[in-house]
Amino acid sequence: MLFIDYAMKHLKWVEIDGSAPDWNLSQLRSCSDKGGILFCAVVKSNAYGHGVEQMVTLLPSADWFAVNCLDEGLELRALGVRKPVLLLGHVLLDRLREAVDADLRLTVYNRETIEELGRVLRPGETCRIHVKVETGTGRQGIFPSEVPGFVDLARGTPGILVEGLSTHFANIEDTLNHNYAEGQLSEFRRALDQLRVTGSFPEVVHTACTAATILFPETHFNMLRTGIGLYGLWPSRETFLSARSVGRMVPDLRPVLSWKTRLVQIKELPQGSYIGYGCTYRTSRWTRLGVLPVGYADGYDRKCGNSAHVLVRGKRAPVLGRVCMNLIMIDLTDIPDARLEDEVVLLGRDGEECISAETMAEWVGTINYEVVTRISPFLPRVIAGRG
Ligand SMILES: Cc1ncc(COP(=O)(O)O)c(C=O)c1O
Repeated sequence: MLFIDYAMKHLKWVEIDGSAPDWNLSQLRSCSDKGGILFCAVVKSNAYGHGVEQMVTLLPSADWFAVNCLDEGLELRALGVRKPVLLLGHVLLDRLREAVDADLRLTVYNRETIEELGRVLRPGETCRIHVKVETGTGRQGIFPSEVPGFVDLARGTPGILVEGLSTHFANIEDTLNHNYAEGQLSEFRRALDQLRVTGSFPEVVHTACTAATILFPETHFNMLRTGIGLYGLWPSRETFLSARSVGRMVPDLRPVLSWKTRLVQIKELPQGSYIGYGCTYRTSRWTRLGVLPVGYADGYDRKCGNSAHVLVRGKRAPVLGRVCMNLIMIDLTDIPDARLEDEVVLLGRDGEECISAETMAEWVGTINYEVVTRISPFLPRVIAGRG
């Protein structure tokens, strides 16, 4: 694990606020009135770009972890995570044996997976599965009417334990009108009710992503399954506004991640000089240019060219010209005290100024989830501000 001193020797890195993840978790947990509710921290996709090793260490209060694919689950086990790990995505039939060996919980919605598990499980072994219900997201899952038959098939297969039932909401984040999510919840309850009748009610029932955790206590059941809020980011502006308007607790979420680099060259250009590929920017004045060793290969969106800012010595510096694979250029004319190897903030706070993931998302036409998730996993994640 890397701590902050390490950043001193690097050209670009991601800084993780060491106390924020568990703070955010406790804020989200307190959105539920249920004492003892389980908390499953979604750490897929390199913990939404934050560094999975760092995040599992900084989330000691998480009860479970969820990742997308088998290799991510195996990575958690290799890191020494002994808590329950749920795989949200499909595991190739040929690799089910590896999931069983690593005691990973599977999200299941294909009969073929049940049948193959029946073949690979050895006498005395158990594989815990969570059946995913399709309630209107149009993604993974089986329809509520299919649930009893599917669960019967699984329960009739020696070694399979149907531990969980889950679904995922399609339209909580993007709207102030939650009728669609309420409809999905009723569909999910329909599936649950059928299992109740047959006496095969699962032990762990979970549907709540961050927005549902914050806005809808009725989606909590006995486990929250949240991602973005743990990283201190709101799922959307609509979620924030809805939380304020329904008068529920508004969690105090603290952004976990900053993304930094250093100035690798400063030089002066006369008025009328072109900058970068395609000559898309021409200086309208004598310009003090800064060069930064970051580009789209690091996850810095190409649409930031001629539109984004970075922070240098607490001031905003515009990005000039196109974003290159490994470099960007910035305007330092109004920051005359900037010096070679000064720290530069691409995302995060510097004094009074802040570039949030939401601001960057607006610049490039996406959502905060994507901005942080696509920061290259090759950049070191260093922990700051902890104890
Ligand atoms: C199946 C599933 N559950 C939970 C989550 C967490 O959602 P959020 O990050 O909005 O909390 C995701 C995120 O993509 C997901 O795909």
